[in-house]
Amino acid sequence: MNQQNADAGHSGASPQVVVLTVQNQFMKNYNYLVVDPSSRRAVIVDPAWQMEKIDRALIDAQANLCGILITHSHPDHIHLAKPIAEEYGCPIWMAKEETAISGFNARQLISIDTTPWTVGQLLIEPIFTPGHTPGSTCYLIGDNAFTGDVLFAEGCGICPNIQAAHAMFASLERLKARLKPQTRIFPGHSYGKPPGQMLSLLLKDNIYLQLPDKESFAAFRLRSGQDEAKMFSFS
Ligand SMILES: [Fe+2]
Repeated sequence: MNQQNADAGHSGASPQVVVLTVQNQFMKNYNYLVVDPSSRRAVIVDPAWQMEKIDRALIDAQANLCGILITHSHPDHIHLAKPIAEEYGCPIWMAKEETAISGFNARQLISIDTTPWTVGQLLIEPIFTPGHTPGSTCYLIGDNAFTGDVLFAEGCGICPNIQAAHAMFASLERLKARLKPQTRIFPGHSYGKPPGQMLSLLLKDNIYLQLPDKESFAAFRLRSGQDEAKMFSFS
């Protein structure tokens, strides 16, 4: 387990981000526990695969889980949402557009728009970033952005077609405009770099943030010969 502290900026709190690496056969994901140090209230992002790791992280952090943030509805991002919502009696937040296209449902589900809300002193700001899926959403908490399968340190999420790639280009432009250079990026997966890289580093190294227009972006994102076997690599 890896813990990082970052300046919250907006809310005055300093969220603690606990990074959990979880795995199911070939699938490897990052789950993030975000804790408000003043109230010990916490949220978890995209919980999957290893309930015991999440339970243990909450005990170790002496945190009270108050909600589940879902970036998108793919199985490796929602796998434990319902069981955790039952165990801890907390809501599941997912963009209304993602709820609509996925059919995901749960007693605890709250379909959201981009209106921010607070958990303890954590200010949670959704940023609508379609492309990987039609309702993909990133969450900004202080100077930490939880980007699911939209933005990785080394690239961006798979886009199923040219319209999705155009949407992804606009979403990445939105993130570039909205986030600060020092914002730390916490993606759903890694392809080499550890989570928590600053946006300023990605702007320099990530080619998907450098393409000038949606046409060249789509041509590159949808190019042939990409190695999908590395899709879940943590190497
Ligand atoms: Fe995904």
